[in-house]
Amino acid sequence: MKKTRMIGLSLSLSLGLVASYVPKAMAAYEQVKQPSMLQPIVDHVDVIAHRGASGYAPEHTLAAYEKAIKMKANYVELDLHMTKDGELIAIHDSTLARTTNVEEKYPDRAPWRVKDFTLAEIKKLDAGSWFNKTYPEYAKKQYVGEKIPTLQEVIDFIKKKGSKVALYIETKDPDVYPGMEEKLVEILKKNGYLKKDKVVFQSFSEASLRKLQEIVPKDIPLLQLYSPNMIQGKNLDDVFNRAAEYAEGVGPDKSLVTPAFMQEAHEHHMIVHPYTVNTKDEMVEQLSLGVDGMFTNYPDRLVELNKKAYISHGAASGEVTDTSAVLWARTSQPAMVRFEVSDDASFKKAIIKTEKAASKHDLTVQVKVTRLKPDTIYYYRVQALPGSNQVSGTFKTAPAKNELKPLTIVWGGDTGGQGNIPPFKAFSEMADLKPDFFLFSGDTIYADNATPAVPNPPSKNIEDFWAKYKENRTDPNLRKLLQSTSTYAIWDDHEVKNDFSGPFEPLTSTGFRAFTDYWPISDERSSSGKLYHKFSWGNTVDLFILNNRSYRDPDTKPDGMDKTMLGQEQLEWLKKELLNSDAQVKLIASSVPISIPTGKPNARDSWANGDNINPNDNTGYEHEFAKISKFIKENNIKNVNFVTADIHYADIIQYDPDHNGTVDYREFASGPIGAGTGQPTTLDPTFGPERLYAEGGFFNFGVIKVDPGLKQLTVEIRDENGKVHFHRDFPIE
Ligand code: G3P
Ligand code: CA
Repeated sequence: MKKTRMIGLSLSLSLGLVASYVPKAMAAYEQVKQPSMLQPIVDHVDVIAHRGASGYAPEHTLAAYEKAIKMKANYVELDLHMTKDGELIAIHDSTLARTTNVEEKYPDRAPWRVKDFTLAEIKKLDAGSWFNKTYPEYAKKQYVGEKIPTLQEVIDFIKKKGSKVALYIETKDPDVYPGMEEKLVEILKKNGYLKKDKVVFQSFSEASLRKLQEIVPKDIPLLQLYSPNMIQGKNLDDVFNRAAEYAEGVGPDKSLVTPAFMQEAHEHHMIVHPYTVNTKDEMVEQLSLGVDGMFTNYPDRLVELNKKAYISHGAASGEVTDTSAVLWARTSQPAMVRFEVSDDASFKKAIIKTEKAASKHDLTVQVKVTRLKPDTIYYYRVQALPGSNQVSGTFKTAPAKNELKPLTIVWGGDTGGQGNIPPFKAFSEMADLKPDFFLFSGDTIYADNATPAVPNPPSKNIEDFWAKYKENRTDPNLRKLLQSTSTYAIWDDHEVKNDFSGPFEPLTSTGFRAFTDYWPISDERSSSGKLYHKFSWGNTVDLFILNNRSYRDPDTKPDGMDKTMLGQEQLEWLKKELLNSDAQVKLIASSVPISIPTGKPNARDSWANGDNINPNDNTGYEHEFAKISKFIKENNIKNVNFVTADIHYADIIQYDPDHNGTVDYREFASGPIGAGTGQPTTLDPTFGPERLYAEGGFFNFGVIKVDPGLKQLTVEIRDENGKVHFHRDFPIE
């Protein structure tokens, strides 16, 4: 039977996601704006006080329900069992042992099952003292002697309090208590609680919910609970198709909530109420995934997050120099955001910056912090005011000019596309290496691919682009990396559209806007859309970030002396900076590779034209790369390494363009971090490549270590579990 109910107490739908309930005006809205699946399909995120406000008072006692009411929870959750004499009582476990003094009172009646005791016997038990012993920080004298309440007593209590709080009732062990559902319905009906705004039914038991479906009014919501092992290995579409026959929502263990899970649920028009979400950080993460409510032992925390602004998608630092850094965060609603930065973890002396989070930047904020000390670890914390939760992070400033210091960098690209959605384990492994910085080599989103954030691609408007970044920031692994080191983010094509040429693509400015909203990017780099820039880490490394997209001729243009990928100004800038650089190692961050032809035949997107594969292909940008290659060679610029991603496998190449037996520069390509994996392809021979390693078919990232003392550059390719697949030490000349 198809479900006919609609979930939510006094809730109306937002964004018209539930097709069968979409008002006409909403349907029109849907056509212009494609809603992300990672947002609630109801207009209020429900606060469900799990076993009452059971973090603060003994679970399933009137004291815990009273606290839930005071904290303005929308629901109190009740687990029901049945006594020997057929009374429904509120208790979680099937035995009385954990939450009462039953062992002391009735020592010879192990295992103290609820079903073996009469209500009169149960009423003699103390259901509060255990709490005081277990949670001394919340202990109160008044909890001693609290009783296990019946369902009727709970309803009476709520009525006496004049509260509108609704009941969220779970039928526990329904197979042990035949007739439980009928009894429950009878009590609710008698009390005027068998109404859609008064009760939701939940159960791990499908049979119990199907039974309730037959005997309760059609508009009362039913919710299928899932533990991890109920879902593991199952096709989510099948799971939701089945649940949608009788339920309006699902209650998954919080560990099950991922973008893929949310997409399935919301596409099936089912609400998601995960359990049991207790810390504010966990709540914020679940909110970023778009859940429609949560079971929590601490309802006040979620009530606050529903009201006051909070940092919604983590924080980040970037564009670090020896004296400055850019800090980034996003809030849940317009608010002033306060950043504190200190070289002391206790923040005794902190630089404080405030900035307003505004809707035109999708509530993202960035501040530049200056006058920092070189080669110093900084701590930051950020807070949306007047909210109370903080997000913290750390970064290290670059060494002072002329300093030589060892350096570890992680790099990679290609995340959130071609059927792959967060979480991505590689980010966590990158963070664990404690790098000095992370170079995100492009395709930081896949704006033109279907994901839960943009189910009907390509991204067309700024909201779609923003939604993609938010989707990737639901990944705790990415947030961990971004909050543990600084990032230099570069863009490639999928920040806008596959293989785009900036000047000719109408979406360029939209993609650029979202990219610069969601990455910590300095004004110098974003001004006039430049994005190319040099960052120095003392004398150890100069990092030349290219912008391979904004100035390029179309991929289809025949290659020649007048064809450009970088544009004249950027090319001259690169030459000048390379010439002026006295850093031991020069890293050129190019979002596209040198010798691996990408794009399509006769529309090559990377430098190579791939005419070894297709002899008539006269596209690519080889003429321009030849100018760079020649410049490096003629000026005897040593230790030049191109760092890239984009090819969806790992490739380490060294180049001898004039075939004289001397290596003139190298290319290091890693990835994908989280997109489709490919296999090594044939190299275009134009610039004399020698392949040192190539491997595909796995998620991976790269590590570069520079040891100025040993005059050694080390490159590694690691898989998403951190296992080293390639390691090579190169001498620094
Ligand atoms: O009902 C949601 C949640 O309570 C399910 O877990 O074991 O706490 O009843 P449990
Ligand atoms: Ca429960």
